[in-house]
Amino acid sequence: MPPTPDNDLQNAFSRERDLRNALTRERYPRSSKYDPAWIVDVPMGPHPLWCVESLMEVMTLEPGMRILDLGCGAAVSSIFLAREYGVEVWAADLWTDPTDNWERIRTWDVADRVHPIRAEARELPFARGFFDAVVSIGAYHYFGTEARYLAYLLEFLKPHGSVGFVTTALNHDPGATLPPYLAKRWTPDFFTWQSPKWWRNHWQRTELVDIDTADMVPGGWDDWLQWLRACEIVDRGYAPDADMLEADQGELLGLVRMLAHRR
Ligand SMILES: C[S@@+](CC[C@H](N)C(=O)[O-])C[C@H]1O[C@@H](n2cnc3c(N)ncnc32)[C@H](O)[C@@H]1O
Repeated sequence: MPPTPDNDLQNAFSRERDLRNALTRERYPRSSKYDPAWIVDVPMGPHPLWCVESLMEVMTLEPGMRILDLGCGAAVSSIFLAREYGVEVWAADLWTDPTDNWERIRTWDVADRVHPIRAEARELPFARGFFDAVVSIGAYHYFGTEARYLAYLLEFLKPHGSVGFVTTALNHDPGATLPPYLAKRWTPDFFTWQSPKWWRNHWQRTELVDIDTADMVPGGWDDWLQWLRACEIVDRGYAPDADMLEADQGELLGLVRMLAHRR
């Protein structure tokens, strides 16, 4: 049957309803206030707002603090941080055009508090000691596994400033034999998916920070899968990732959450 305007409208309504149902979680009340269509518009990693809210379960930001949102992608998390926690955010990313982010920032009326910038995490264009905290969502593993990186990043924090991130992870070392659903996806990007134990050791041995949290986000596997299913409602091409998570059943895959303070 050819589509009619009525059918199109009905489909759009039911997609919006499905999206809202899929992306409303009691555990993340602040995220639930945001238009799901806006959140899935430019998906990159796991749900950026759920990740921020799960990080804020262990991290405290005070209004007016200067925050570096490192690897902010489409700056969805940066806008959310400014609006929900009253902080001033430098939205830094390598691949996303800061002009696109500026458009989004202006639309949300936070142009006075969110500053988009193209930045390579290993060559940050900021003054030493400038930030109260670094937040990184779905991105830290791209640069942070290098042994010297934390020491470099801490230079941009005030004394006792904090670094917190949530990103894709394995909850333990799978050893030499990967399960088939992971083996078939095992490209270099995946090599940086590490466990909380790995990250704790990676940071602790620097003797530069006190670690407050090194765990897997409770329910993180489920959050991630639910997010990918929601992205599928609007055909964002995440079916292979969703299949991988389905096959895993939370055995290995999830989201790591790290928080530490500079000594
Ligand atoms: C999976 S996306 C997550 C984006 C966003 N934080 C989110 O949650 O939607 C990873 C982001 O890390 C950024 N990234 C990767 N390597 C980077 C680097 N060396 N310096 C700065 N950003 C980097 C990419 O530009 C990309 O936007």
